[in-house]
Amino acid sequence: MIDKAAIQELKLQGGAQVGAYLKKLSDINSITLVLENLGELPVDFEGDFLDNYAIHSHEKVRFWAIKNIAKLKQGAYLNKFIVWLKQETATQVKREIVAAIGRLKTEKAQDILLETLLEKDAKLVCQAIRGLLYFKSNPDILERLQALINHPNETVRTVIYKEFSQKKPKAANSQAHSHVYDGLKNLVINADVLEVLPHLPDESVHLTFTSPPYYNARDYSIYESYEAYLNFLSKVFAHTHRITKEGRFLIVNTSPIIIPRVSRAHSSKRYAIPFDLHPLLVAQGWEFIDDIIWLKPEYAVKSRVQSFDNNRKPLSYKPNTVTEYLMVYRKQTNKLLDWNLKHYEPSITQDSLIANEYESNNVWSIEPEYDKIHPAVFPEDLCERVIRYYSFKNDLVFDPFAGSGTVGKVAKLLHRYFLLAEQEENYCQYMRQKIKPQPKEGVETRFVSLGEFLKK
Ligand SMILES: C[S@@+](CC[C@H](N)C(=O)[O-])C[C@H]1O[C@@H](n2cnc3c(N)ncnc32)[C@H](O)[C@@H]1O
Repeated sequence: MIDKAAIQELKLQGGAQVGAYLKKLSDINSITLVLENLGELPVDFEGDFLDNYAIHSHEKVRFWAIKNIAKLKQGAYLNKFIVWLKQETATQVKREIVAAIGRLKTEKAQDILLETLLEKDAKLVCQAIRGLLYFKSNPDILERLQALINHPNETVRTVIYKEFSQKKPKAANSQAHSHVYDGLKNLVINADVLEVLPHLPDESVHLTFTSPPYYNARDYSIYESYEAYLNFLSKVFAHTHRITKEGRFLIVNTSPIIIPRVSRAHSSKRYAIPFDLHPLLVAQGWEFIDDIIWLKPEYAVKSRVQSFDNNRKPLSYKPNTVTEYLMVYRKQTNKLLDWNLKHYEPSITQDSLIANEYESNNVWSIEPEYDKIHPAVFPEDLCERVIRYYSFKNDLVFDPFAGSGTVGKVAKLLHRYFLLAEQEENYCQYMRQKIKPQPKEGVETRFVSLGEFLKK
């Protein structure tokens, strides 16, 4: 088979030579190899031979033929592109043809691009939008493009929003992305978080990592119904969204729970908390990023298999649940991650790099942690990974359901600031021992009641 260097040499001999070489080939892989590796084409490249490949029976060949023809940027191809587009059945090739039409940047292409806006495939529509944006000084084209803000497809709406939304001027008192309010640094508030949240400033938190109460599965929280529980969480995370800085992360640790049966006449009930919470978060403007599985050793979890193990009857199978979710979301923004990164001093970025080992997949095997005082504490290892992967040094990390304050303890060790809310006084007392002062500590930890917090 011909290699890449030989393809380059062949190309320099001219289009006719390439065409003659291709004519001798019959297998798809060899033809594709040549077409895929032609690279830049000289201005005077004779590309007529490509026409036959643009209507080849194999999709891959048509795809690469169109890609090469598009490099020729010759207006004369417009009519051919239109014919090929109309007869094309493969989505990928269609997208390539529309992209090629757009790149011609000729007014004659406007009609076909406008026609393409009506296609069902959002990627095709987005290619047509890209082509039409070149003509946005034309009021008719502008109107057609702006109308797509109501398009049924979310990607199309986002492209249009990004293109035409007014760049919001930042409020005069808006703080730098890396800024942390002094009053929020290393603060533990002993209160119902819903009473705290309305008093926290907009865009003041860099990362939230939390494990909310497990509906009514533990004593420390009782809700009158599952709906009331979800409403409560929804309010907490809507406020959290407001106080989160643009493009920063929320990581929620949850798992389906089981509420034991009330009597032998009833069954126990499973509640799929992560799956019920997800749509609420997305509706608030949290963009789903990842699901990370926290995997525990089987010996460390409550056994559910006993009954099935004895009777082996179908339908009674109930596996031991050795996983919990870390649901990762980003506050929705048009900005890419680079925008967030560039707000930090190079020294902070350097100090925040995750050197050496890291988790390369989304299943994290971590032993659960048992605690004498709190029934459901985070393992420090889990907090450490989350805080290191999703925040920078000197950032503010928030935990609205702080429990024993593991997030605070680990944040401090990793040179981040923390803000914690916990409604139970005894857990706040416990935190006083757990979050010990560090040698040469910059900002000491303060424990306040709701009243004290509101007075400031
Ligand atoms: C699952 S535990 C979190 C444990 C914590 N991750 C740790 O490492 O210790 C949830 C905590 O949320 C607290 N909590 C429940 N409802 C609350 C509310 N409305 N405001 C503040 N804290 C609340 C509970 O008291 C409990 O300590």
